[in-house]
Amino acid sequence: MIEKDFITPLSVFDIALQGEVSAQSPSNIALVKYWGKKDPQIPTNPSISYTLTKSFTETTLKFNPKKGEAAHIKVYLDENKEDTFVPKIKKFFDRIAPYAPYLNHYDFELRTHNSFPHSSGIASSASGMSALSKCLIDMEEKLGYTAEMPTQRASFLSRLGSGSACRSVYNGLVNWGKNEYVTDSSDLYATPLKTEINPVFKTFHDTILLIHEGSKTVSSTVGHNLMNNHPYAEARFKEAYNNIAKLINILEFGDLEGFGQLVEHEALSLHAMMMTSNPAFILMKPNTVAALEKVWTFRKETKQPLFFTLDAGANIHLLYPEEAEKIIKPFIANELLVFCQNGKAIYDQVNFD
Ligand code: PMV
Repeated sequence: MIEKDFITPLSVFDIALQGEVSAQSPSNIALVKYWGKKDPQIPTNPSISYTLTKSFTETTLKFNPKKGEAAHIKVYLDENKEDTFVPKIKKFFDRIAPYAPYLNHYDFELRTHNSFPHSSGIASSASGMSALSKCLIDMEEKLGYTAEMPTQRASFLSRLGSGSACRSVYNGLVNWGKNEYVTDSSDLYATPLKTEINPVFKTFHDTILLIHEGSKTVSSTVGHNLMNNHPYAEARFKEAYNNIAKLINILEFGDLEGFGQLVEHEALSLHAMMMTSNPAFILMKPNTVAALEKVWTFRKETKQPLFFTLDAGANIHLLYPEEAEKIIKPFIANELLVFCQNGKAIYDQVNFD
């Protein structure tokens, strides 16, 4: 589908109706990272992620035909009114208005809940924006419009809220960004990776070490923009592109060692881009580095398939197959939790259902 296929005329929606819709959407972690974008949220390189199970956002959206001139939006996080979230939602609604023109005709009340602790440092934009986009697809149904490919439409809308959110609408391994290795890949929306995946990668655990709880010092938006005029940008985009092919091969053949090498290199490359931006910034904390070194030593000594990846933050995602859980979990508990600010981790898993 191309961009104009997502434009929907106001006439197909019955904007006299009111109602309520709810949706749940998980977070995801990129294995090949998206870092750098062009307007409007077009990635400078393709990415592949794993969708999680236990870290999700639940959102309920109440919609009423608007009473005043301007549309009114109220946002609640758990039971608390969160006026600080409103500008972000308004910006998102403005961005998607050409595709969802009914938005300007409604007042909204949005209630949202994250399964993971608030300000744990876990990015809620992927799960939050995709949950809201799923709500909009359901709202559209209630207004009389059913998209031909609703999940793809949810992904398209999510992307305009937060790039990585477009991958969260699918389970398992997901690709976003046009490339020659994934048929039907697009810059406009994500698609599930249809490659025949080796069973070892289907029951992966993702334990998130909460090294630093609280918000990060530099937002992803600022970080993406710093890739413009970045001295290593072109090399990075090219490498990420090539890593799509490499990762697909690794996933097909069940190459655990290759998986670890590629995924860790991707994580460290992401942070290297931050450190070599102008102005430079560092999102890892001393405990991030200390824990990563422990992981490397443990792997060297035990030959266990324990790998890490990093998001744009200080927390560490530990990736390991189900088979290794018995040995790896005690190691995490005994040796790694000490690096976490409050001694806590989130024990998540990949979802392929
Ligand atoms: O979705 P954004 O704009 O918050 O960007 C997130 C980018 C990373 O999480 C660092 C990498 C990725 O591909 O998810």
